[in-house]
Amino acid sequence: MTHAALAGLTVRAYTPGDAVATAEVFRAAVTTTAATRYSPEQIAAWVGGVTDPGAWARDRSAAWTAVAESAGRVIGFADLTEDAVLDMLFVHPSAARRGVGRRLVETVLAEARRRGLHRVDTRASHVARTTFERTGFVVDREDDRNTVRGVLVPNLAMHVDL
Ligand SMILES: CC(C)(COP(=O)(O)OP(=O)(O)OC[C@H]1O[C@@H](n2cnc3c(N)ncnc32)[C@H](O)[C@@H]1OP(=O)(O)O)[C@@H](O)C(=O)NCCC(=O)NCCS
Repeated sequence: MTHAALAGLTVRAYTPGDAVATAEVFRAAVTTTAATRYSPEQIAAWVGGVTDPGAWARDRSAAWTAVAESAGRVIGFADLTEDAVLDMLFVHPSAARRGVGRRLVETVLAEARRRGLHRVDTRASHVARTTFERTGFVVDREDDRNTVRGVLVPNLAMHVDL
């Protein structure tokens, strides 16, 4: 069940100064929230995506990235790549299940519509499936062969028609 929406939630454009805070959100979301559905080995492989701060900052700036903030703190982020993929969606566990993920996806879809896109694709984790379905995404297939740094990390190919 989703709890009351988070008070004072704002969503704004990413700036390079958000690199460290978004990396921390990623690390916390993967090691805490995603760990409810994935094994320690899978989590260790997944969280390895944040070990190089320079690469992290470059990747966040390369995509169109939205940042969620509450009480002056970054609590989540999502992005849209040039090839119409929502690649990243992460919310800090301290703000989970209060609609932040949904709001971030809706913000990305508004940007996609602004660009005139007719479709957005994503690879959703099993934890994120419901948030994507609530914003109109449908499952195309379950990918049990997806690997991250050599470890099987099953996910779902999903898309939304705009
Ligand atoms: C997916 C994610 C961004 C959703 O953020 P959120 O702000 O909690 O999202 P919403 O409040 O809009 O949606 C809540 C739904 O997310 C799922 N969810 C969130 N936290 C969860 C948790 N600790 N355990 C299980 N499911 C959880 C549930 O389906 C929940 O619905 P419910 O509360 O009605 O059961 C967040 O859970 C997260 O960062 N997960 C780990 C990383 C991840 O899987 N990212 C997606 C990669 S594609």
